Amino acid sequence: MPNPAAEERPPHLPVLYLESINILQPKSHGRYADGTLGAGGHSAGILKTSQPDGQLLGLDVDDQALEIAKARLSEFGKRAILIKGSYDNMTEHLRTIGWFCVDGIILDLGLSSMQLNTAERGFSFNKDAPLDMRFNMDQKLTAAEIVNTWSEKNLAKIIWEFGEEPKSRHIAAAIITHRPVTTTQQLAAMVLDVYKGKRGKVHPATRTFQALRMAVNKELDTLEKGLEEAVSALCGGGRLAVISFHSLEGRMVKQFFQRESRDCICPPEQPVCTCGHKASIRLITKKAIIPSQEEIDKNPRARSAKLRAAEKL
Ligand SMILES: C[S@@+](CC[C@H](N)C(=O)[O-])C[C@H]1O[C@@H](n2cnc3c(N)ncnc32)[C@H](O)[C@@H]1O
Repeated sequence: MPNPAAEERPPHLPVLYLESINILQPKSHGRYADGTLGAGGHSAGILKTSQPDGQLLGLDVDDQALEIAKARLSEFGKRAILIKGSYDNMTEHLRTIGWFCVDGIILDLGLSSMQLNTAERGFSFNKDAPLDMRFNMDQKLTAAEIVNTWSEKNLAKIIWEFGEEPKSRHIAAAIITHRPVTTTQQLAAMVLDVYKGKRGKVHPATRTFQALRMAVNKELDTLEKGLEEAVSALCGGGRLAVISFHSLEGRMVKQFFQRESRDCICPPEQPVCTCGHKASIRLITKKAIIPSQEEIDKNPRARSAKLRAAEKL
């Protein structure tokens, strides 16, 4: 099956596109949800594959993404319903449009190429811009506020936990010394200084930027609730596909799937089950699906992607 989204040269190339569509198996008369709409690449695939009657609810918290997706998906008319909202409130958004459950959900985590390439959004240090990093521009908390108001201890904690940055304490100390830190390149230069100007394959500021982005958008908290919501929102036999891009999210998805696919989650040393937990899903991917070398060559952003999927019992 050709990748129609790739042929149209969208502003963001959908990652693991065919693999996700193969897992979701969209059908006419089916109802689907894309919790992270972006430029609508995966959504377009779901709508094309579920012709003529399949419907899709697309959610994003970013107005720019919604605009782009709206234009891109206009060919599907009323079959595509696009709403500004977070995927961790999926069940509420479904009720709003009068749907009880859906046959498939995709969550393609992280940020889009549009967000990364729009300098003033402050996600990248390739161009100088204010430290913003909000997915949802209605939100008050920005990266600048974190960098300039949080304690050294809390800065070190998020840079360590979300960025897995070995020099997190040194970077937090440098931030405190140089406050106010207001722009992307100012922060990147400061991190490079901590590394005494040494760059590896990856700029040393990459991990700090990832950590700040995750803190600004509360990405792990959202994912934790979003996975629960997604399973609740699925009809029996409905499928959930989740694409993650770094180890923390990947681990969260993997552990959630393992836990929810088991009838008992008591500690293994306990002889008799006392938890009463019942499996709500069945694993479709025993091992995460990763992109082919061909996909990575075409779209280097795909290199760390992992697709995991489950079916509601
Ligand atoms: C990797 S992009 C999705 C790309 C999309 N699959 C495509 O093919 O174009 C991730 C998108 O998720 C959005 N997003 C991030 N957090 C969100 C949340 N809590 N709820 C809804 N959308 C969110 C971002 O704004 C971004 O547009």
